[in-house]
Amino acid sequence: MRADQPLLRVAGLSVRFDTPDGEVRAVDCVDLVVDRGECVGLVGESGSGKSQLALALTGLLAANGRATGSVRLEGRELLGLPERELRAVRGRRIATVFQDPMTALAPHLTIGTQLVETIRAHATVDRATARTQARDWLERVRVPDAATRLRQYPHELSGGLRQRAMIAIALAAGPDLLVADEPTTALDVTIQAQVLRLIADLVQARGLTLMLISHDLGVIGALCRRIVVMYAGTVVEDAVATTLFDRPCHPYTRGLLAAVPDLARPDHRAQPIPGHIPNLLAPPSGCRFHPRCPLAVDRCAQEKPALREVEGRRVACHRAEEALA
Ligand SMILES: Nc1ncnc2c1ncn2[C@@H]1O[C@H](COP(=O)(O)OP(=O)(O)O)[C@@H](O)[C@H]1O
Ligand SMILES: [Mg+2]
Repeated sequence: MRADQPLLRVAGLSVRFDTPDGEVRAVDCVDLVVDRGECVGLVGESGSGKSQLALALTGLLAANGRATGSVRLEGRELLGLPERELRAVRGRRIATVFQDPMTALAPHLTIGTQLVETIRAHATVDRATARTQARDWLERVRVPDAATRLRQYPHELSGGLRQRAMIAIALAAGPDLLVADEPTTALDVTIQAQVLRLIADLVQARGLTLMLISHDLGVIGALCRRIVVMYAGTVVEDAVATTLFDRPCHPYTRGLLAAVPDLARPDHRAQPIPGHIPNLLAPPSGCRFHPRCPLAVDRCAQEKPALREVEGRRVACHRAEEALA
């Protein structure tokens, strides 16, 4: 491993799906770098390609999907690796936590069995030691009465406890990168805050690298120092959180921020972004945001803006300078 090499380097990544209606261009030429120890947030409206980007990293796209471009983990190309090698990357190197742990947990195995199997798949320890470590993991994710929970099946746990168990299983494999895709979206607001706190603590205590994915800028802002904003399958802005919140540049980022209700100012009305996310069977030409953009000019419909450095952030907008003026 070279010291200057990022943990993850995604370059020109595109994801397309074949459908009876044509080709869905879900992710379009995304560039993204994650350094070891970073917490990066990926935010964008539902349907903006966040989950497909995450799934493409470890070759988990649906059968009608394919990814092109490059995904390098410490320099090693993952795209196009045979399934057997990808399986070794999943879990051990890149662990993913999904919105719905029921789809990721095996319904017919107890939480304890799943934890023990994960631990033993990644380290040579005997069953009894793995069992003890499994209990330690449940305690670490603050599942009360861990000994009892180990003997239970996923359906016997509440949503919040299931999500914690899922996080424990993901982390027990000792991954380099944790990808958490809407990890708290299905939970009640109070449980949501607890699970986010838990992720933040684990990330800090274990020096984890985290890619947190959410449609909710509040969730991302609470945990991430850097934020990548996606719109209709493209990265539109990539900036340190303080820069993004204090001085957003891309008109879409500005729209997202204006759409967040401000609890401190109840008189201030959240402004939804007019229009709709485009149909990805026939995405708009040029900048995919141009039909909804208040700053759009002819060029925006003709030429796809490159992601470029403007005042300390990366932004894909022909009119970035005007937006900041
Ligand atoms: N198997 C599939 N076939 C066709 N289109 C798909 C498939 N999976 C996802 N998509 C489309 O890809 C786009 C991006 O989806 P997704 O990454 O799930 O969005 P997000 O996670 O940002 O809400 C959506 O338009 C979705 O309908
Ligand atoms: Mg998603």
